[in-house]
Amino acid sequence: MIICRTKQEVQSLMGDWRGEGRSIGVVPTMGALHEGHLSLMDIAARQCDRTVATIFVNPLQFAPHEDFDAYPRDLEGDGAALSDRGCDALFAPDRSALFPADFSTNISVAGVGENHCAVARPHFFDGVATIVAKLLLILRPDAAVFGEKDFQQLAVIRRMVRDLDIDVRILGGPIVREADGLAMSSRNQYLSAEERAIAPALFRTIREAGETISAPGARWDDVCERATKAIIAAGFSSVDYVNFVDASTLDPLERAGPEGRILAAARLGETRLIDNIAVAPVRAA
Ligand code: PAJ
Repeated sequence: MIICRTKQEVQSLMGDWRGEGRSIGVVPTMGALHEGHLSLMDIAARQCDRTVATIFVNPLQFAPHEDFDAYPRDLEGDGAALSDRGCDALFAPDRSALFPADFSTNISVAGVGENHCAVARPHFFDGVATIVAKLLLILRPDAAVFGEKDFQQLAVIRRMVRDLDIDVRILGGPIVREADGLAMSSRNQYLSAEERAIAPALFRTIREAGETISAPGARWDDVCERATKAIIAAGFSSVDYVNFVDASTLDPLERAGPEGRILAAARLGETRLIDNIAVAPVRAA
C-alpha cells in the first residue's frame, strides 16, 4: 500500500492511475478504523480498479467543546488494517498539508443539512461538506463510498455533489453492527463496560419503533414518545432526537411510506451515539 502525506504525492499517484486508465474509488475516514470502515473499502474495490482510503481527523467538524483532541488516533494500526484489506493507497495528510493558514471557505448544505444531528451540532455538516469537497477535488475519484451509519451525512454529501456538479459517483454502504446490534463506531471506544452493555438498546428501540410504525394506523408521535422513554429507561442519559423521515429529503413523515427511515441520537454518559434504520412500508391490516 502506498502512503501519501501531501496533496502533491497523492495527486501524482492519481494522475499515474488515471493515465493507465484505472478507475479510482475513495473511502474518506477519520481513522480508528473498524469493520464498518473496512466494509466500505470492499465496496470501493468491487466498483473500481484502485482504492484509496483517506484518514484525516477534520478540525472543521468539531465544535470547541467536542472531542477533537481525544478522538482516537492509530495511524499505524489503521495502515496495517487497510493494507491487509487490499487497499492500494492511503492519503493521510496533516492539517498543514490541507489547510493554508488563512483558509476561509465554508460549504453549507441547507435542507438535508438542517435538523436532526445539526440541532446539537450546528457546525458539523458544514465541516463535513467542506472537507469532503476538498478531498474529492484533490483526488478526483470515480466513486466515493460513505456509510449509512451516518445517514444524514450521506444525504448532505449526495446533495452537495449534485448541487456543485462534482463529477463523482457517491455510493452508500450498509451499517455494520456488533453481534448485539450496536452500530460500530470509533467512538464506542469511549464507553465504559457498563455503558457498553446499555448501548445496544438504541438499535433495539429504533428497530421496534420501525416495526410499530409500519403497522396499519400507527402514529409517529406515539411511537416516538414510547421510543424516547425506552431509551432513557435502558440507561441512556438523554435523547437528542428520534425522528421518522423520508429517506431522500430527510423531511418528517407521519406514517410509513415506501422510503421511511428512523434516525436517532442519544447520549450515554459523555458519549453521543447515533443510529438509524430503514422502515418497511405499512403492512396490510
Ligand atoms: P468516520 O466517522 O471515520 O467514518 C468514515 C466512514 O465510515 C463514513 O462514511 C461512515 O458513515 C462510515 N462508517 C462508520 N461506521 C460505520 C458502520 N458501523 N457501518 C458502515 N459504515 C460506517 O464520517 C466521517 O468519518 C467523517 O465525517 C468524514 C466523512 C471522513 C469527513 O471528515
